[in-house]
Amino acid sequence: MESAEGKIIIVGVTGASGAMLAQTILRMLDADPRVARIHLVITQTGIRLLEHELQISGPLAELPERILDSSGAKSHRKIEILPNTDVGASIASGSYPADSMCVIPCSMGTLAAIAGGASNDLVSRAADVTLKEGRRLVLCVRDTPFSRIHLENMLRAQQAGALIMPAIPSFYHQPQTIDDLVTQYVCRVLVQLGLPQNRQFAWKGQPLRKAFKI
Ligand SMILES: Cc1cc2nc3c(=O)[nH]c(=O)nc-3n(C[C@H](O)[C@H](O)[C@H](O)COP(=O)(O)O)c2cc1C
Repeated sequence: MESAEGKIIIVGVTGASGAMLAQTILRMLDADPRVARIHLVITQTGIRLLEHELQISGPLAELPERILDSSGAKSHRKIEILPNTDVGASIASGSYPADSMCVIPCSMGTLAAIAGGASNDLVSRAADVTLKEGRRLVLCVRDTPFSRIHLENMLRAQQAGALIMPAIPSFYHQPQTIDDLVTQYVCRVLVQLGLPQNRQFAWKGQPLRKAFKI
């Protein structure tokens, strides 16, 4: 599906805690020369979380700039923001050649909409299309603890082809900062979207003698 210009990636951002995950992945996708276009959809509560957790707010059209620019870095500008109410947008159709999609962070509400095939907003419709077209859909679900309803919805989505990647950080790469935690997790998500990362820490095993003091 990848065009000559590069990959087309859909990013859904919902009202689960973890706006920093969305910001980090958008910055990395925007800076990645392998990516031609990013279609960004943010739910109403996702917008609220951006403001609450990152103090980012403003008119919808200005959000991509504000999400990217707080780093001060000048990068490519390839993000198109779409209103979540626009179920007639390009990405709502399987004929549009998107490569893959992630929902990051993914609320239990949006997970339920995806698992139930609701397609009543653009995030859940684009996810539905991604599944029906057999393309990669990564759901970065976030809540704690999970109820049986959450777990059953995850199973349902996974059985329909989604990859469930809970927003759970790893510690074996010995992170020193929140950015280290977030970047390692986001790298893992990007790999699943078909974008291998050289910033990703890869565990190479440990000599038995060191691990078990033998
Ligand atoms: C500050 C705040 C934090 C929230 N954190 C979570 C969360 O981590 N996970 C979750 O599933 N819902 C969380 N919610 C609740 C969702 O935002 C809510 O269920 C919303 O309806 C989800 O809608 P959306 O999927 O369209 O964004 C949070 C809400 C607020 C205001």
